[in-house]
Amino acid sequence: MDESSPTPTTPPEEEAPDAGTIDRRGFLHKVSTVSAGITALAVGIPAAAAFVSPALPQKPLDDWIKVADDVALLDVGEPVRVNFVKTDQDAWIETRTLNSVWLFTEDGEKFKAYNAKCTHLGCSYVHDKEKKAFFCPCHRGQFDIKTGKVLDGPPPRGLDELQVEIRDSAVYVKYRDFRLGIAEQVVA
Ligand code: FES
Repeated sequence: MDESSPTPTTPPEEEAPDAGTIDRRGFLHKVSTVSAGITALAVGIPAAAAFVSPALPQKPLDDWIKVADDVALLDVGEPVRVNFVKTDQDAWIETRTLNSVWLFTEDGEKFKAYNAKCTHLGCSYVHDKEKKAFFCPCHRGQFDIKTGKVLDGPPPRGLDELQVEIRDSAVYVKYRDFRLGIAEQVVA
């Protein structure tokens, strides 16, 4: 045979996959299928919850805030300021605000509670022991301790009085904020 002439060759036969290759492919296919399922669940469950939850009953909000553990610990005839954190839930958003009330009792049995924001522009007022009145340093407003009425200055109405309840010797207040700078008491 002429050595320069091309030699006929037979195309190589494709190798048949062995059993090990099939097992690996099957395994990879199963893994990818399971992964896709997990991803779908991860995306789908929160989406479904977002759709369903607003229709579910919401936890009832309790407006009453405990502001003193025991009435016996409160001074008679001397107003005391109490700070507390109020939590509000609006659908998905929970907000916490630091609020304050002034508590006052003349006899240790009946209690008055005032929102601690001045009704003029919302500054914090203090107890002026000398004048025996509440005094707002922002614009020199003054309020009567026993009644909350305006004694002096620009506040357009008296202090915002809040409902009070005594439960098992503890003092609870139904806290509300009101619109500022107007003569009428309107819930904010
Ligand atoms: S904010 Fe209290 S007097 Fe103006």
